[in-house]
Formats: sequence, structure tokens, C-alpha cells
Amino acid sequence: MRKILVSIAALLLLGGAVSAQELLTTGKTSLVLEAKKGKAPKILHYGSLLTPDEAASLKDAGWKSQNAYPAYGLAGTEECALAVTHADGNMTLDLRVEGVERKAWEGGEILSILTKDAHYPFTVKINYKSYKDQDMISTWTEITNREKKTVVLTKYLSGVLPVRVGDVWISSLYGTWANEGRVCTEKLTRGYKVIKNIDGARNSHTSHSEVMISLDGKPQESQGRVIGAALCWGGNYELVFKTNDDDFHHFLAGICPENAQYYLESKETFTTPELAFTYSEEGLGGASRNFHRWGRKYKMMHGDRERKVLLNSWEGVYFDINEEGMAQMMDDIASMGGELFVMDDGWFGDKYPRTKDTSSLGDWVVDRKKLPNGIGWLVRTAADKGIKFGIWIEPEYTNSVSELYEKHPDWVLKAENRDLVYGRGGTQLVLDMSNPEVQDFVFKVVDDLMTENPDIDYIKWDANMNIRAHGSQYLKRQSHLGVAYMRGLAAVCDRVRAKYPDLTIQACASGGGRANWGILPWFDEFWVSDNTDALQRIYMQWGTSYFFPAIAMASHISATPNHTVHRTTSLKYRIDVAMSGRLGMEIQPKNMTEEEKDLCRKAIAQYKQIRPIVQFGDQYRLISPYDGLGMASMMYVSPEKDKAVYYWWKIANFYDEHFPRVRMNGLDPEAVYTIKELNCIDVKPLAIEGKSFTGRFLMEEGLEIPYVNKPAAGRSDWSSRVLYLEKK
Ligand code: GLA
Repeated sequence: MRKILVSIAALLLLGGAVSAQELLTTGKTSLVLEAKKGKAPKILHYGSLLTPDEAASLKDAGWKSQNAYPAYGLAGTEECALAVTHADGNMTLDLRVEGVERKAWEGGEILSILTKDAHYPFTVKINYKSYKDQDMISTWTEITNREKKTVVLTKYLSGVLPVRVGDVWISSLYGTWANEGRVCTEKLTRGYKVIKNIDGARNSHTSHSEVMISLDGKPQESQGRVIGAALCWGGNYELVFKTNDDDFHHFLAGICPENAQYYLESKETFTTPELAFTYSEEGLGGASRNFHRWGRKYKMMHGDRERKVLLNSWEGVYFDINEEGMAQMMDDIASMGGELFVMDDGWFGDKYPRTKDTSSLGDWVVDRKKLPNGIGWLVRTAADKGIKFGIWIEPEYTNSVSELYEKHPDWVLKAENRDLVYGRGGTQLVLDMSNPEVQDFVFKVVDDLMTENPDIDYIKWDANMNIRAHGSQYLKRQSHLGVAYMRGLAAVCDRVRAKYPDLTIQACASGGGRANWGILPWFDEFWVSDNTDALQRIYMQWGTSYFFPAIAMASHISATPNHTVHRTTSLKYRIDVAMSGRLGMEIQPKNMTEEEKDLCRKAIAQYKQIRPIVQFGDQYRLISPYDGLGMASMMYVSPEKDKAVYYWWKIANFYDEHFPRVRMNGLDPEAVYTIKELNCIDVKPLAIEGKSFTGRFLMEEGLEIPYVNKPAAGRSDWSSRVLYLEKK
């Protein structure tokens, strides 16, 4: 009898321990939660991989857990993730654990903590999903109103993460049009740090919805513990660090609650977007590589498919589209070894032909004056030249000067009793994506093009205006606009992808306005910036690579003087920078000399060889342009570590300069690699050409790279090198 009682007690104890503490792991990381029935759910640890015993001993080590999803009303000044007003006017929530569910999915596990308010029939399911092989854990919530009447959500963030105070720094991305993805590094101090975006339709121009949190002092590329966070959402967001009077920086992220109260009807569930975390002990670079691998595998379209080398017509001809010009550009890119030609803006409009940016969006019919034989002729002409054809659209927008607007003035965003608020060209307007009729229209733009021209291979889907007028002529609840816009866009993208799974689609938004993990699940890549200046691109692509892989970053060789910054750089320099992303060209080839075309031809051929390494390899950033050393350097290494591509760019030019010798990273220390320079323009080969070195030597000592290019003619102050390394 005594024996039985003892084992029941043991079982109860065991049961208690198991239900109270939940451990979710990936290959190298773990999350420890507390889910005690009847209590608020807590987070105890996110970071290195702990064994169950270690996790169980955290309390013995003096660790204190923090609220996993703090709700407003009964928690004093704690920054909340969720705030509601019940139908009776009560503004509090008291969420308590009801149970825990765990289920496996192909890439890991989903752990859900079911919580319910102590008084109201209002539930929140807090989900954590592990991506085992990529060391990512994401969180999101499902908020359900089981009350009889509507509950207003005044804040509905995706999740929180307490970060222990120490010497914690954050790196975030900021910018503007033509200067996207710039890195901002700062120490977290007391008070609030808020990163947010209220653009409405796009969200990565001014700042990004991702952040790196370095736990061991000033961020380093290959050392130190780093937590990376990315909110997977294409709309308005808020990332908040609150550091007040305790031992934690409280990090919270989700949809920006400002002017966005959500009326949750009875029985309705609101699902917040995924907030993805990674943890690495290999510095910023380790965290970035986790994001890249995860993104390619789970969060972008065709992350395992090589991208084609293309020519885009925009900077070459702008709106000056005609058949002869398009055919010439196709000829040129085909002759240089390119695989795709993309006709940008200016091809459409009947009653209002698109000759500049002041009209025609929405009238997606070919301008027969410019292109008498239609799109079909262009697709066939491209095919005759052995390349594919792509086309530009901006389907979520119209101009007041358009047939679409004349027919459907009620389809644009406009506040009642207010005038229209225009964007680009003084006439651009945002279509109301919350309206199902508009969604049908936007889907039809793609569907018509593809039905008539099934061989279109690529679409550049642009979005050149933010939401300037808060007003839907369709929605009953105006505060739903931000969420409804994104849901409408998602619904259209789902339909497009269901019908056209193979199509390549670029997300462009006045350049890099749609570089985020909320959009990429439907898109293959994004346009990093309208600024194609190679020097500024080094800074922008560097920052963007914190969270996004090279395969997602469209990077084009353009003309000089550059059309945005008017800088003149050498063609080799422009090639060497563009080749570090998804290579393309955006130039009028007929203005290039034969010698220039030849250099591009060789570069394209060499890019095709290194393409799998750039597009699927692991990136190692070596010397940052932000460190002010006058040069920048990084590399990609194949997953097998048998091949690598190394980039060296000079970013300032003064006489008598002395740069660091760069130590490589990511190679196999035991392997021996042979060096071959790509895009070589020098009269003499490099002294290291064809020589072999151990991975250990390259990583611990490094090569001497001559500081200047020495071609036979046309010396320039813009020097750069690209080296290909192959295991012997
Ligand atoms: C935006 C894009 C550009 C180009 C133009 C066309 O600015 O970012 O790349 O497509 O629109 O109008």
C-alpha cells in the first residue's frame, strides 16, 4: 500500500514537472517555457541548447521567468503584447494556462500553450514552432473571442522575448528610397527603443522589421552570442525594446497597433503573424546564415531554384518602349549570355498611354502604338533569341488619369469627406485591397497576362506608393485597413501561386520597400534599391544580407555616371558588386562599347559557374564597409565547403593607403584550395593566381590582395577583386 502511494506521489511530482516546464529545441538552441495550469505562461530561457536536466535546474541557478504573452490591465506597467476592451467596457485580461499541445511537423515541432481568461470566455493560443535544422524558433498567437459580443483588440503583437540585461547591442536596418538596408548599431540603454513602420502597403524603406540582438557587447561578425528576430509581415509593424526597472530588456514585436483597433467578432479568431527567432554563438554571421538557410527552405518562393541572369529595361530606356528597342535589348542580353529580358514600366495604356508616371496604372492593356504586335510577339521574339521574357506590373495601384479609375472611383483608398491624396506623378492612388472586387481585379491582371502569354517567365510586381489616405470605401471598420490590405494582398498572392507555381515574381516597391519575410513566401526575390550605384549598393546589400540571402537580392550592373548618385565607377567594379547578389543588368547595351560588352559576357559566363555558391552557399561577411577601413570584403562557401567565392571591394581611394590583410572564413581548414581570379582586367595575373593554400592558412593568415587594378588602359580609382576558390 505504502509502495503504491509513493509511486502515485512520484507520478504526480513527475506529471507536475512535465506539465509546468516545456522544452523546445533545435539542433543548437532551446526555448524553455513554463506552462503551469491556472497560471500565466512564462519564458525562462531562449538561447543555447540545454538538456532537460539543465533546463530543470534553471530555477536552482536563480533564473527568473518572465511573462510569455503579457496582457494589459492587471500587470502594472509591464509592456503588454495584447490589450483588449471587452463588450462591457472592461479593459483587462487575465490569461491563464489551460493546457499544452505538442505536435510534430516535417521540420520540427509546434508547441502550443492554450490560455484562457480567468473570467471572460476569451482564449489565446500561444504557438512556438521549431525549425530544427535551421536553428529557428518562431512564435505567433491565435486570439479567439468566445464572448457573445464584439471585443476590440487595441494591441495584438505576435510575441515577446525577455533578453537578460548585460552589454546588449542591437543592429537594425534603416533607410529611405535609394538608400535602403543601412545598418544601425547601438547599445541598448534604459528606456524605450522603438522600430516601426506605418507605410501601410510596403514596410522596409524607412526601417526593417528584423533586428539582431548581440548579447556579448559590440556586435562581431563571427563571435559572440546573437539573437536574430524577424517579424514575417508585409505591413505596418512595431518592434519595441523596453528596459526599465528590472534585469531584462523586454522585446516585443508585431503588427503596429497605432490606429488599428481590431473588432474581433464573437467566435472570430485573429491569428498574428509569425515572429521568427534564431540564436547563434557565431556572431552576426552565424545568425544571418540561419536566416538565409531557413528563408531559402521555408520562407521564400523557389529558394532552391537558380535565378536567371536578366536585363531589365528600366534604366536603359525608361518609358521609351517600342518593339525595335525591346528586340535590340533582347539581342544584346542574349549575346552576352543572359537568360531573361524584363520589359519594365511604359508598355501599357490605351486611352491613356503610359508615357510618364502620371497616368495609366490599372489599364493593363498593351499600348498598340508602342507595341503593335502585343506581348505575344515579345515573348516569341525572346524565345527566338533563346531567352525568356518578363514583364513589369504594379497591380495594386491606379492613377486618377486611367480608365480603371474612371470606371471604379470607389476602388481607391479615400477617406470620406476628404479629397483624394495622390502619390507618384501627382496622380497615383492605392487600390483598396480589402475589397474582394479589387482582389479579383488584381488577380485578373496576372491571370490575363499569363493566360494570353503562358510563356511569360517573370513578373516584376511593383508597389510605388504608401497608404496616404486612411480611408476604405469598402470597409465598415476603418481601423481594419492595415490588416485588411495585407490579408487582401495575401489572398491574391495565394491565388496567383496556386495557378502559376513556376512563375518567377520579383517584389519591388520603389526599390527595397518589400524586403521582408512576410512577402517572400510568394515572391522569388526583391529589388534591393532603385539606387544601382555600386558603392552605395555595397552598404545596402551588406545590411540587407543580415537577414536575407543573396538569392533574394536583385543586383544589377548599370550605366555610369549612375542615374541616382551620378558617380562614375569602373565597369569591373559594377560587375564585381552586382555579382555578389542575383546578377542582372539594367543598362542600355547599345551604348556600351564592344569591349564593355565583352567584359560583361565573360562575367555572366563566370557568374553561371559560381551561381550555385552565391545563391545556395553560406555567406561569411569579413570586413564591413561600415567599419571605415576603406575596403569591404565577404565570401560565399558551398555547403560542402569545396568551393567558395571571395569578394574584395575598395570603398575609398587615397594615395598611400594600407588595408588589412583579410582572413577568410567558413572554409575547411584541412582542405587545400586553388585560387582563380574572376573578371580579371589586369595586364598581369595576380601573384596568387593558380596557387593553392590550405583552408587553415586562408582563414588564419590570408592573402595579399593588390590594392589597385592595373588594366592596359582606362585605369580607375575603383578597384575590386573576385576570387574563385576550388578544393584540390
Ligand atoms: C519603381 C521601381 C523601378 C521601376 C519604376 C518604373 O520606381 O522601383 O525599378 O520599375 O518603378 O516606374
